[in-house]
Amino acid sequence: MVHGKDREPGHGKKNGITEEKGIKEENGITAEHLCFSYPTGYGCGKENRVLEDVHFHVANGESVGLIGANGVGKSTLLKLLVGLADGYGGALRVGGLDVEKKNLAAIRKSTGYVFQDSDSQLFLSTVYEDVAFGPRNYGYSGEEVERRVSEALKRVHMEELRDRQIYRMSGGQKKLASLATILSMEPQLMLLDEPSAALDPRNRRNLIRILNDISVTKVIASHDLDFILDTCERTLLLFDGKIVKDGKTEEILGDRKLLEESGLELPLSLKGQNRK
Ligand SMILES: Nc1ncnc2c1ncn2[C@@H]1O[C@H](COP(=O)(O)OP(=O)(O)O)[C@@H](O)[C@H]1O
Ligand SMILES: [Mg+2]
Repeated sequence: MVHGKDREPGHGKKNGITEEKGIKEENGITAEHLCFSYPTGYGCGKENRVLEDVHFHVANGESVGLIGANGVGKSTLLKLLVGLADGYGGALRVGGLDVEKKNLAAIRKSTGYVFQDSDSQLFLSTVYEDVAFGPRNYGYSGEEVERRVSEALKRVHMEELRDRQIYRMSGGQKKLASLATILSMEPQLMLLDEPSAALDPRNRRNLIRILNDISVTKVIASHDLDFILDTCERTLLLFDGKIVKDGKTEEILGDRKLLEESGLELPLSLKGQNRK
């Protein structure tokens, strides 16, 4: 991977062996001069550039919205954070660990990634099986697996659906089950890609409440600006490969000119306010 791991003096060891065994959540997420190209481009090459010189830091405990027009690179940025997209330029660190092959196991153990498409997340037959998969895979005892599954299902109010067949569930139920598969790993960081897509208003509202009750660090990528307004205090606005604005969600989402210049529109709730 091409990614300036020696940019920050004193980080890790000179011989490339990182001292940390796991992520340190107090270190949050850091991107410096991050660039990325699909599919043939590598590092900072010019072809198919998606991200270009992206800088940001997410501190422990923050809930940060990642917004931008379709195709701007929101999903790509989330994928880069857990090594699902390969070959970036610049620096990218999660919990103080460089996102690179030797650290991916540690990063993924502590980072829950909720896919946009729940069918990509749920691959076993019942809710219980899917939610237990992570903890079982990491070798926790039967008792601990049971505790984690119960706790995760409680967080998403799905205790009574634990034995439900996945194929018999609605889109909203699958989204919550997906979230539970992440929560059972007790993540220190959660990445959610378009979590409100395809949810009806009731399920959407329910998901907002559930997410706001979970206090771990979150990055939520969404084109649903009202959802971001309800779940994230801070927002990163992506446009043309760069973060063109990083600040308070209310300020960014209330700035019609900035949003329009970035290919977006005011959130519905704020449009309503303006009309009055
Ligand atoms: N696997 C891929 N291979 C090639 N290009 C891709 C791939 N995934 C996404 N892209 C392209 O990268 C750009 C950013 O995509 P994406 O991160 O999905 O944007 P967003 O999530 O903001 O809609 C788009 O132009 C998209 O077509
Ligand atoms: Mg996307």
